[in-house]
Amino acid sequence: MSYKKLTSEEAALLIKNGDTIGFSGFTAAGTPHVISQALAKRAEAEHAAGRAFKVSVFTGASTNDSVDGALARANAIDRRTPYQSHKDSRKGINSGDINYFDMHLSQLAQNVRYGFLGKIDVAIIEAAEVTEDGEITLGTGVGAVPTFARLAKIILIELNSHLPKEIKGIHDIYEPLDPPYRKEIPVYKPSDRIGSNVLKVDPAKIACIVEANYTDGVKGFAPVEETTMKIGENVTNFLVDEMKAGRIPASFLPIQSGVGNIANAVLACMGKNPDIPPFEMYTEVVQDAVVALMKTGKCKFASTCSLTVSDEVMKDVFENLDFYKQRLVLRPGEISNNPEVVRRLGLITMNTALEADIFGNVNSTHVVGTKMMNGIGGSGDFTRNAYISIFTCPSVAKEGKISAIVPFVSHVDHSEHSVDVLITEQGVADLRGKSPRQKAELIIENCVNPEYKQLLREYLKLTESNNHTPHDLNAAFAFHNQFNKSGDMRDTCLSKYAVKGEA
Ligand code: COA
Repeated sequence: MSYKKLTSEEAALLIKNGDTIGFSGFTAAGTPHVISQALAKRAEAEHAAGRAFKVSVFTGASTNDSVDGALARANAIDRRTPYQSHKDSRKGINSGDINYFDMHLSQLAQNVRYGFLGKIDVAIIEAAEVTEDGEITLGTGVGAVPTFARLAKIILIELNSHLPKEIKGIHDIYEPLDPPYRKEIPVYKPSDRIGSNVLKVDPAKIACIVEANYTDGVKGFAPVEETTMKIGENVTNFLVDEMKAGRIPASFLPIQSGVGNIANAVLACMGKNPDIPPFEMYTEVVQDAVVALMKTGKCKFASTCSLTVSDEVMKDVFENLDFYKQRLVLRPGEISNNPEVVRRLGLITMNTALEADIFGNVNSTHVVGTKMMNGIGGSGDFTRNAYISIFTCPSVAKEGKISAIVPFVSHVDHSEHSVDVLITEQGVADLRGKSPRQKAELIIENCVNPEYKQLLREYLKLTESNNHTPHDLNAAFAFHNQFNKSGDMRDTCLSKYAVKGEA
């Protein structure tokens, strides 16, 4: 079968108002670029002509400017799931223009299969190669594309000539059966391969191929600054101490590491510490630091959903694919983040909190309780099932006007039951086996910024006669209310809450 070749504009005409589109990829890696840009232009033209035009955008995780950016600016997104991190889509979500539902990434594909989220009309897939019988070699991110492709009515392919065909062999595509037929996911170590190295689709559904050439456009990381470096050192020292205490085996356990500068710095610090043995990763995102650790031999193997590395690092990967194909596997998000596998392998998970409270609850998503930042991503998939779950964050944000540690989080993504260890640049609070009151004392002493210690001690005093979890419900959001009022949590005055009910 010879596929029809179209321009991106012609391909965009195959998409209808109200359609649900499933995009391949995970972060910018593996995410298509050109059809979505043409679709955004088409939506703008439709709006200018007075016609409605919006689509639902389902992805593996965050995307790139061509998907979330262009479509949000064109006001072309109706429903959006499971995760995003683009400033323009964030704006649309918080204004109510985009109906965003934030989901655990591992659940997206199965929820689509179960029919909870409606039908998939179109799958748009970035490919390195497509054969006549519908075998697709994907790009550098997988996401939920196996399910999108199987359920979509039509498939549009972006054949990206920037991707070397030799990338074939890095992927492991596997889709579990649904209950009551689901079986174990047979991954017993990060390097186990359980599926196919290509995505197999019905060739009759491939409506067109659009030829393109682009990089993922991932930016490099900011140089590691002092706070981030200190967090990295604190995490590394904690892990070394756990090994010495015999709570982490001498052979070590696989690591999951979140996205962003802190995660990158933590891995760099682990790489430098001779007491940390060479380790494996079972994670959803591989960033620049991991590739550097593969070169030194410190990271022996990484199972991931995406290779989210800067263009410069990707060039090195593409030029040395024989080396990296022995050390990397790219899986669908429901396998890279699978709770069953996470718990079986015994992952040490490391994710970033926006804010945490003195009892160990973590908010990863909502700024001051109401404004969506990005989404929960895979942090819940990993945290809830970890061997040891670690959360890191700087102790303050916005030049100290915000304390990242508050009396009570303004939104709960990870409850105290799932958070084992909290680490800031100030220190480490090991919360395992501690009561709420003990957790509060430990977090205040070890993790809180000196500018906020006294205030949080005062908060605990307010609640001294209280029950198991010593909260004062009047004052629990005093820090947030103060921030909304004066723009600085340091102005918080707790004395007015001392007489109950007065505030
Ligand atoms: N209240 C308000 N704003 C806060 C804040 C708080 N408590 N803590 C941080 N911020 C602001 C920062 O000032 C910064 O603002 P800016 O963009 O205007 O500079 C922004 O939030 C991001 O903070 P930063 O310290 O740069 O952290 P980050 O880039 O590492 O992102 C998360 C942190 C929590 C937003 C990010 O890790 C995330 O989206 N996590 C959820 C998904 C996830 O964990 N995925 C991992 C699984 S692999």
